[in-house]
Amino acid sequence: MKNSNSKNTQNIITIDGPAGSGKSTIAKLIAKDIGLSYIDTGAMYRAITLIALENNIDLEDEEAILEKAKNYTIRLDSNASDPDKYTNIYLNDRDITMDIRSREVGEAVSIVSKLSGIRKFLVSLQRDLSDKQASVIEGRDTGSVVCPDAICKIYLTADIDERVKRREKQLNSNRQKSDRVQIKKEIENRDKIDSTRKDSPLVIPDNAHVIDTTGMSIKQVSDEIKNIYHKEIKNKNK
Ligand code: DC
Repeated sequence: MKNSNSKNTQNIITIDGPAGSGKSTIAKLIAKDIGLSYIDTGAMYRAITLIALENNIDLEDEEAILEKAKNYTIRLDSNASDPDKYTNIYLNDRDITMDIRSREVGEAVSIVSKLSGIRKFLVSLQRDLSDKQASVIEGRDTGSVVCPDAICKIYLTADIDERVKRREKQLNSNRQKSDRVQIKKEIENRDKIDSTRKDSPLVIPDNAHVIDTTGMSIKQVSDEIKNIYHKEIKNKNK
């Protein structure tokens, strides 16, 4: 199902890539610099996973998870002005910003995000959000499934050791425990699940620009993406 009727694809930048490729940091910075909203789709998969865990629902029981999830409004309040901060995310009025970053949610989210019914539910919410506002939308399938007609599609990657270092730094800045060997195992496991699942696996979207961020600074990557975006806009208006 493509969103060819989307009203706003002109003003959308999609950023996809594996865990630790720098997507969130870069997406927030670009959103702030260009003046777009920021949509963190991973946070939405984490929120649904938290609902399943807290209600002791079997992580493979799609119907029960969806039934429960429909009782909540998931709301994102992007902190694009502070690239070091996570997007604030709410279940109804409850702030779950930090709850969804627990190791437990991190381990369970790959299982829940494989379920087709859950993906359909969240993709529809994500399209509603990106139809309403010019945005940078970031995740695993934003350029391939959520907004395939976006004007600028980016795929970020980096070598595994660099991704482990970044994740470690992130955990340390949140005062969460980190162990490099464990982090590497978790990232490799998530890469495998995310890129081999049947529904919407992590792929390089058609017409995406691939950037290997290994050894690049945040500014270098964001400058490169902004150049690509401005070129795409120019080409479109020719
Ligand atoms: O980017 P993140 O680590 O917060 O994402 C959490 C999980 O959600 C990740 O393991 C894969 C899944 N995800 C997905 O399947 N599709 C997306 N568009 C975003 C995230």
